[in-house]
Amino acid sequence: MVSLDQLVEDAKRDFSKASDPAALEDAKARYLGKSGLLTERLKALGGMSPEERKSAGAEINRAKTAVEDALNARRQALADQVLQARLAAEAIDVSLPGRGQALGSLHPVMRTWERVETIFHSIGFDVADGPEIETDWFNFTALNSPENHPARSMQDTFYVDGNDAQGKPLLLRTHTSPIQVRYASEHVKHYGQNNMPPIKVIAPGRTYRVDSDATHSPMFHQVEGLWIAKDVSFADLKGVYTDFLRTFFETNALQVRFRPSYFPFTEPSAEIDMAFASGKLAGRWLEISGAGQVHPNVLRNMGIDPERYMGFAFGSGLERLTMLRYGIDDLRLFFDNDLRFLAQFPA
Ligand code: FA5
Ligand code: MG
Repeated sequence: MVSLDQLVEDAKRDFSKASDPAALEDAKARYLGKSGLLTERLKALGGMSPEERKSAGAEINRAKTAVEDALNARRQALADQVLQARLAAEAIDVSLPGRGQALGSLHPVMRTWERVETIFHSIGFDVADGPEIETDWFNFTALNSPENHPARSMQDTFYVDGNDAQGKPLLLRTHTSPIQVRYASEHVKHYGQNNMPPIKVIAPGRTYRVDSDATHSPMFHQVEGLWIAKDVSFADLKGVYTDFLRTFFETNALQVRFRPSYFPFTEPSAEIDMAFASGKLAGRWLEISGAGQVHPNVLRNMGIDPERYMGFAFGSGLERLTMLRYGIDDLRLFFDNDLRFLAQFPA
């Protein structure tokens, strides 16, 4: 029979050979299990005389404690190994550069929208909006475009299912001009005609037409402007609009042309074209707006007496303003959602 010291040494060696917790439990069973080597020694104490049992018992217990200590130490070591392996596997290299958080930014057309609001707000214009699904009355009839009038065909229209209260088909508004009538009618209802403050409002929004080429898209944005008071003339339109363009483009070096035109809702009417006097786009004219003196019939449809009030209106393309501001020659780029394009307009 091997000595107790040898037994402790054997146990220590077996424990350290165990390379995982399951192997260690097997080794433990060999020494401390029900019929383990040390357990057998303890059982043998029963057959000894009391004196023998006393000294042998103490020896065996010391050996047992040593084996248990070795077992616990090995258990701890194996657990540490598992932990170290996990830490190594899940390690984060804090010196790696981060992936970065891409900053979103406003769409260039939205930036124009906000810029237009800020500029007109600063010269006393209110900002209004209206529905994108319009009635025949607000989009056409109230704007002096009677049914069957050839001017309606200037704007190829998307009709939607469903009729308004008059039984006329609803449509996607073809311009922001219906907001003129909506806003002005409410204004007159609210103040009455006698002492009403001037109507001075812009209305940016989405508009829709059956249109598609480099300078036209089926969905686009306009900003409507309307200023009605006792004495607002075409000269005021020219002054206000030219000043707006100079502020918007941050330069006086631009040419503005009021080209005679026709709209049913204004008389006289003009298209506003502009070109830069210098720079890479110099000399290239682009139509940015329709405009004119509000037609007396439209004033009447707003509930306003054309003998007492007059004013101007304009409707400008936000994409066109954006194209000129950034030197973009195809407006379809605005709607492709290509990040390589959009990322060129950081916040
Ligand atoms: C109108 O829509 C009139 N309602 C403007 C107006 C308002 C005149 C008030 C008088 C008084 P026009 O169809 O020309 O007019 O459009 C106005 C501007 O919208 C154009 O100058 C252009 O800048 C822009 N625009 C028109 N169609 C498109 C389109 N399909 N895509 C992008 N921009 C467009
Ligand atoms: Mg036009």
